[in-house]
Amino acid sequence: MKTSFSGIILVLLIQLGFVLSYKEYLFKTCSSSGFCHRNREFARNVQRATNFVPQYAIDPKSVEVDPELYVIKGQVLKHLAQLGKSVQLPFELTLLDKNNVRFQIFEDRSTAQPKNALVNTARYNETTKWSFKTDQVTIERVKDEKVIKDENHVSFQFGKDGKYRAELSYSPVRLVIYAGDEAQLVMNDNNFLNYEHFRTENENSKHLSPYESDFDMFSESFKETRHDKIPMGPESISSDFTFKGFKHVYGIPEHADSFNLKDTTGSDLPYRLFNVDIFEYVPNSRMPMYGSIPFLLASKPGVSVGLFWINSADTFIDINKKHEKDTSTHWMSENGVLDVVLTVGERPEDINESYGSLTGYVQLPPLFSLGYHQCRWNYNDEKDVLNINSLFDEHQIPYDVIWLDVDYADSRKYFTWQPEKFPDPEGMLKELDITGRNLVLIIDTHLKTGYSLSDTIREKEITIKDSENKTFVGQCWPGEAVWLDSMNPASQEFWDEQHALSDENTFMGRFSTNFYIWNDMNEPSIFDGIETTSLKSNLHYGNWEHRSVHNVFGLTFHEATYKALVKRLESTERQRPFILTRSFYAGSQRTAAMWTGDNMSKWEYLKASIPMVLTLGVSGMPFAGADVGGFFGDPSKELLTRWYQTGIWYPFFRAHAHIDSRRREPWVPGGSYTSIIRDAIRLRYALLPMWYTSFFESSQTGVPVLKPTFYDNLNNIESYDIEDQFYLGNSGILVKPVTDEGASSTEIYLPDEQIYYDFTGGCISNRSYQLTEPGFITKDVLLADIPMLLKGGSIVAAKNRYRRSSHLMANDPYTLTVALDKDGDASGRLYVDDGSSFNYERGEYLYLNFTANKTSIASTAENNSAFAESLGNIKVEKLQLLGRRDITEAKAECDGETWNLSFKTEGANTIVTNPKLPVNKNWTVHLQSDGSSQSAEEEDKPKGALSSGLLVSVGAILASSAAALKYFSIL
Ligand code: NOJ
Repeated sequence: MKTSFSGIILVLLIQLGFVLSYKEYLFKTCSSSGFCHRNREFARNVQRATNFVPQYAIDPKSVEVDPELYVIKGQVLKHLAQLGKSVQLPFELTLLDKNNVRFQIFEDRSTAQPKNALVNTARYNETTKWSFKTDQVTIERVKDEKVIKDENHVSFQFGKDGKYRAELSYSPVRLVIYAGDEAQLVMNDNNFLNYEHFRTENENSKHLSPYESDFDMFSESFKETRHDKIPMGPESISSDFTFKGFKHVYGIPEHADSFNLKDTTGSDLPYRLFNVDIFEYVPNSRMPMYGSIPFLLASKPGVSVGLFWINSADTFIDINKKHEKDTSTHWMSENGVLDVVLTVGERPEDINESYGSLTGYVQLPPLFSLGYHQCRWNYNDEKDVLNINSLFDEHQIPYDVIWLDVDYADSRKYFTWQPEKFPDPEGMLKELDITGRNLVLIIDTHLKTGYSLSDTIREKEITIKDSENKTFVGQCWPGEAVWLDSMNPASQEFWDEQHALSDENTFMGRFSTNFYIWNDMNEPSIFDGIETTSLKSNLHYGNWEHRSVHNVFGLTFHEATYKALVKRLESTERQRPFILTRSFYAGSQRTAAMWTGDNMSKWEYLKASIPMVLTLGVSGMPFAGADVGGFFGDPSKELLTRWYQTGIWYPFFRAHAHIDSRRREPWVPGGSYTSIIRDAIRLRYALLPMWYTSFFESSQTGVPVLKPTFYDNLNNIESYDIEDQFYLGNSGILVKPVTDEGASSTEIYLPDEQIYYDFTGGCISNRSYQLTEPGFITKDVLLADIPMLLKGGSIVAAKNRYRRSSHLMANDPYTLTVALDKDGDASGRLYVDDGSSFNYERGEYLYLNFTANKTSIASTAENNSAFAESLGNIKVEKLQLLGRRDITEAKAECDGETWNLSFKTEGANTIVTNPKLPVNKNWTVHLQSDGSSQSAEEEDKPKGALSSGLLVSVGAILASSAAALKYFSIL
């Protein structure tokens, strides 16, 4: 067994409890990272220079519009003053679909002589092969006649009515995106553009400009990276980008940090993107985590912009908010080509859509995967699994998936079972299937040495190799292991075989199909590696150094699993795979869900999870969640309860716990804690129709599944900083989870002057709020309360019956809740399909449009498919009309028939009981009113000052004795 020095230090420090100092010891900061150190130094020197002389300029004569491809091409010249010559760096400027302006700078290194002859000498330019949804991303034709070219610039207009313009200046090289006449996003505004061209160590000094540092160019000084020969020498790329007039920037996950990104000037830790196994990650930190999405969104009233830095190498991003109006950013990557996409639009949703048009939108997950997932490391054996399964029923708590961590496998050799503990996995899966439940199994990227499968991948030469092209061997869960190189096309066939469904007695061959996969440790995590991961000098297929592909590697692994599962499931009814990945990159949303890794059972981690999930959502990766309860440690009963009440709002909702933590399934805390947790989980299930609808919409347009508060009123700058509340998609449900210990009240921010109906815990009540300007309201909270509001103008569909799993809810009726806005209108959407197949892609779904005003409620279907036909027996069983006590008559009309509806007033609201409205037909409910009260808003409005001091109206606090009406009935 190979034990490294850092491994020994790790064990010692953990034993001594020095987790923080261990982290600082283990991971690089900017000053200890060669390329970050150099680029920051370069930026500092450029800023200090009194007579800065730009080193980079575009050769005007070289600029041409390629008549075939409509790409603007030319040469950037990097002037080397000491040598009196220039290096030619070819560039391309293209307009891609949906306002995406792409700028690339390349370097021809075909004649370079690396220190290691095995290394591919080209700059890695294949990140988009993995990250883009297809290599057919449409090039919007930048037609020659639309391009304006003179001796200093080249520019073109784009967007509807030519509203936007991209202008590339030659000297200094500067790319500016305009909306109208105003510059919005400027590349190289501060002259931080730096492209370290190839040179040998001997000649290096002659290649340096006076602004450059030569720190760690040809050898590393950080701990054990000293062995790294850095075969291509310095090859980093960097540039600054100024966001003009923007003070709010979001994205670049994954970090345990605020939603609106922080200023990093003066800190040794800019935001770092470098996928690492950072167990017990530190909240409020710019340290790297398990995944990377180099995409940043900036918003202000009227304009939003996006920046996608397409690079899979180690990357640091500095953010400077010290300017009065602007935010400037500095992007630095260890190698690769300079490849950046700049996007502009009116709203943040436009930017989400543009970014997703390149990397793809989130997969529409199988419906079951939006239910509750029960995990721990480990459920010990079949008996344990089936016992947990039946305890859920005993406690009448719905759940959809039980998970098995590494110890199901014999000696942690994935694709085997511990034979004594799991003698009949097939029987276990069948038992789960009776109630429509599923199993998820963990399969990591390493395979134990001395095991037939690791021998096979060695023989097939589909392993990650060391710098001498021999299979790399390191330490992970099974002890000594080797790693599958999922970047090698030949690995797919091997992977398919391991996951194939067949009659043969192979590991997965005979199983029923209600099981799915969890890909963990795919950063890749290597216990004796540098910074817990692969050596940068390791080699992948194509002789690419790991240095170039590190951040995208995890994606290649979970994508291989996705492809294998698609093949496995293609002959079955359950065709959509579900995969959870820990490591991710831009594009991972197409094939996997992610979670935020190894958090702790502490309040600060619960709080941090909300901005983290919001950040992932605006960065195109909405299927995200955090371990409910916290991975390490034992949560108090209160913390566990509050975590469930928060976790039901994670798009991916899973409880998980470390092997050393005590059991904490929902019934463990007991008494009222368990019943509150039960109510929370049932609320998740009641709202599954809204979750599924939000995912569908996200899968079509890239809109986040959890919508940040500021998206709802872009003119209100105050809401741009709100990071502890959100909307569930476009449903109008506004949620503010309680994340403070012992809280007895909470503040909710209303971003506009709309009516907000109290919807605590999903229950309708007699209360509504409306402020005269955006601000906070204060609500008292009990432990049982999940603070929720329903925004006026919304119609929400829910399924209120308790069932054991989402599968068993398929034929349940709906309850619609109608919340009119201040003008008396409302609308909502509901998406339904079979929940498991790809048939929706050929139109087999139902997408309903609900509309309402004071006199009617109507449903119209967007699609009349065979699937929609099959829903004939599913009805709306209840209509809840919020703030209406004025109804005197209600009639339904459908298919030429009309019938009277019964209804009753309950407090401030009217309930139409069992209207039997068929969900798959167009219908209208006609309402007659006596005009006595149109809505809660028109009721007596006690005026008063709430916590913010703003004037508000609290509408219709009527029938104060009436208890809140339960939104979901408990059977
Ligand atoms: C690390 C993962 O983050 C954690 O969730 C899992 O339980 C362990 N690996 C063991 O597989």
